[in-house]
Amino acid sequence: MSITPQFLEQLKDRLPLSDIIGKRVKLTRAGREYKACCPFHKEKTPSFYINNDKGFYHCFGCGAHGDVVGFTMAHDNMSFIEAVEVLVAQAGMQMPQQSHEDIERAEKQKSLYAVLEAVTKFYEAQLNDPRNKEVLAYIRERGLRDETISNFRLGYSPQNGEELRQYLLKEKFTDADMIEAGVFKQSQHGGAPYAFFRDRLMFPVADKRGRVVAFGGRVLPENIRPPSMSGDKPPKYINSAETPLFHKGHMVYAESHARAASAQGQPIVVVEGYLDVIACNQAGIKGAVAPLGTALTEDQIQTLWRAIQAPEKNVVLCFDGDNAGRRAAERAVERALPILKASHTISFVFLPEGEDPDTFVQRQGVGALQALIAKPLTLLDMIWSMAVTGKNFATPESRAGLAEHLDNVISVIPDQNLRYHFRKMLQEKQFANFRNKTKNSASNSNIETVRIGKIGGDTNLQKQELALLGTLYHRPDIWEGLSDIWFNINMSQDETQAFFEHICTFATEYLAEMARGDAAEGTETLDIPAIKRHLDNGNFGALIEKFGSPNFYLLAPFAKASVDAGTALAKWREMYSHYEKSLLGEDIAGARRQWAATLDDAEAERLLELQRMRKSHLHEEG
Ligand code: UTP
Ligand code: MN
Repeated sequence: MSITPQFLEQLKDRLPLSDIIGKRVKLTRAGREYKACCPFHKEKTPSFYINNDKGFYHCFGCGAHGDVVGFTMAHDNMSFIEAVEVLVAQAGMQMPQQSHEDIERAEKQKSLYAVLEAVTKFYEAQLNDPRNKEVLAYIRERGLRDETISNFRLGYSPQNGEELRQYLLKEKFTDADMIEAGVFKQSQHGGAPYAFFRDRLMFPVADKRGRVVAFGGRVLPENIRPPSMSGDKPPKYINSAETPLFHKGHMVYAESHARAASAQGQPIVVVEGYLDVIACNQAGIKGAVAPLGTALTEDQIQTLWRAIQAPEKNVVLCFDGDNAGRRAAERAVERALPILKASHTISFVFLPEGEDPDTFVQRQGVGALQALIAKPLTLLDMIWSMAVTGKNFATPESRAGLAEHLDNVISVIPDQNLRYHFRKMLQEKQFANFRNKTKNSASNSNIETVRIGKIGGDTNLQKQELALLGTLYHRPDIWEGLSDIWFNINMSQDETQAFFEHICTFATEYLAEMARGDAAEGTETLDIPAIKRHLDNGNFGALIEKFGSPNFYLLAPFAKASVDAGTALAKWREMYSHYEKSLLGEDIAGARRQWAATLDDAEAERLLELQRMRKSHLHEEG
């Protein structure tokens, strides 16, 4: 059908833009133009302008821009032709005369659909034929219910294709039709065409309106079809070649199901295989789709965005948790970034290694998969994770390198405003991350507060740490009572850890010395002023000043000289135990964040280890 520019001009002349848009959005006059709150992004004050003279609308907020056809396509989620048809009707015009060729092409397509429909029916009937009962038994055994099998119109293509050919000939289709539909191939030897799919489980591929346009065919498992003597393995899946109706790079498997699900508010989830789609759908995840034997393309992502009616268009991609899945996810990021726009995104779910959605749902239940889908890793997190996983950013050079790399990654986002937000949020991530990792340098500010003798402003953990350290400083007489844990004590920050090590080194030497002295002379008492003088000789003046402040004894009343050593020791140990637990808690939270951001196996290990430690802690206590 040919729609000429002249025809479009005529159409636009008949339809003032403000009339068409005004039916959907409340307009107010603004001089010679109209303005409105933009229907393409969320806003409270109007930045969407309509100019009837020019025939264009433009949004200064999100950059949306177009004419009456563009508006109808974008707002009502229509193809160009669909939008023109609707507008032509509204304008009281007729669609342009079809040329002879147009009519011929349309007829041809009609008959192609008809061939594919007939073939689908034939395959379905074969699956239900008692001769092929082992095939039906196989898919039932895979967990598919009969209603699912008919919903997805699964079928079976017999080894001998002649039966299908005779059936189609009887239905008045020609050999040429069958070849054009991609279900038969021209014989090289001048014989009758031969069937492309033989002895396979058949998955009809439907377009967005649910019309079958192609097939995928899966080999039968070896327990029903033992491998050939020659040992040649046929490909597990074969798909129809491209035809006038089938463009595998634009379409997705189960799009019509997913559109319906999306309209009901379900997320659109891209999985890898046909059987994954079907298993998800059967379990209630009805927005499942799959690419058609290739990696997900830009066009497919856009197709899926268009399938979502909701204003926020998020397509969830589900991958295996192994390296291949990870790489596939990275390719998807590369594909998506150059087509990204406001309110359009993709996000990521990773399944445990060795699972696909089909097996995961069977083993863990659909709820487990739904939970993952409900909280996918965002594109931002994925970009971050790709950039930092397995790397170390301890040096300024490496951090600058990361910043440069991230800038490069997002430089392909075409929308300037969106790119700005990515850059900003990635900067925030770097800031938050590196601040956490070098918490110690941030605690310089604590040292400032020390100078003015205040202890306020510290976190609970830091207060406990100060109390513990200060008591060790004031009460060397409890040192001996800590000999079993000296070397397991840890502080959370560099300064406090350094001071602790300073005490620990001195204390263990001192105690050893004293033990030798004891053996030699029988008596030896602690010279506390001398010990303090020695401890003062580190570079820890600021901390020690803090220990001298009256507030310090509010934190650690048991550090007072008046408290007997036994009580002081018991109180110290009690506080340490609390401290260690909250330290672990903080570590666990940090480790969880780190793992979420990197999905790194090593981080997962660390998290598990910390959780194990905490468990054994609680266990000991209870
Ligand atoms: P899988 O091998 O994961 O298949 O391939 P599956 O759908 O999970 O099937 P089962 O569970 O093994 O029976 C995933 C997808 O990759 C494409 C198909 O689209 C398949 O659904 N594929 C796979 C091919 O196109 N050709 C192949 O040889 C293999
Ligand atoms: Mn599978």
